[in-house]
Amino acid sequence: MLNLNFHPFPILESERLVLRKMILTDAPQLFELRSAEKTMRFIDKEKIASVHVAQTMIQNMDAQMHQNLAITWGISLPRSPYIIGTIGFWRIEAEHHRAEIGYMLHPDFWNKGYITEALHLVIDYGFSIMKLHSIEARINPQNLASRRVLEKQGFQQEGFFKENYYFNGNFLDTAVFSLLQSSRVSVKDTAMNK
Ligand SMILES: CC(C)(COP(=O)(O)OP(=O)(O)OC[C@H]1O[C@@H](n2cnc3c(N)ncnc32)[C@H](O)[C@@H]1OP(=O)(O)O)[C@@H](O)C(=O)NCCC(=O)NCCS
Repeated sequence: MLNLNFHPFPILESERLVLRKMILTDAPQLFELRSAEKTMRFIDKEKIASVHVAQTMIQNMDAQMHQNLAITWGISLPRSPYIIGTIGFWRIEAEHHRAEIGYMLHPDFWNKGYITEALHLVIDYGFSIMKLHSIEARINPQNLASRRVLEKQGFQQEGFFKENYYFNGNFLDTAVFSLLQSSRVSVKDTAMNK
């Protein structure tokens, strides 16, 4: 069984990014991410309606983290107070040393390798500090950018569920990806992919 502990909050840093704890003042940026057509296109969840709902989401993230059920990082540029995205582990299955990863970035910053960089940090944290054995990612198969970032990290598609997810009057397919700790490609190798 995993012994998770997210206190003190683990700040993760790379050359271009700082991954830090989400705070209530991030609500306007979280609202923007969670309400825009472009970012929500393949998330297949309702867009949120207000900054107030984003504040509640941040409070819920905090509560989940205190119970070691999930951890979310706000993605920001060094020396900037604003988040440009979010990334984290949820649906943590401590007994199986497994967790699901999720991420989202503001469209102004797409295709610059930022999520690839953030995934490096978070996957390394998941395997080396949380002691996960495997990391899962579930995507809408039409989300080609998300598929690409996962494949660049060495994730492999292990499953494909047909019409298993009902949203907005449609039954949607789900592609299930996984990365095993033992097959984690080295930071150096993947860094060369971007
Ligand atoms: C998916 C997402 C996080 C990617 O973030 P990003 O910082 O742009 O990712 P990166 O720049 O690290 O890599 C993107 C890769 O996808 C590729 N890509 C982008 N759009 C693509 C498309 N429509 N079809 C195929 N590949 C695409 C890029 O070319 C790049 O690959 P490359 O390095 O080989 O050129 C971002 O698009 C996003 O936030 N989308 C909305 C939220 C979302 O869907 N989250 C995932 C839910 S499962």
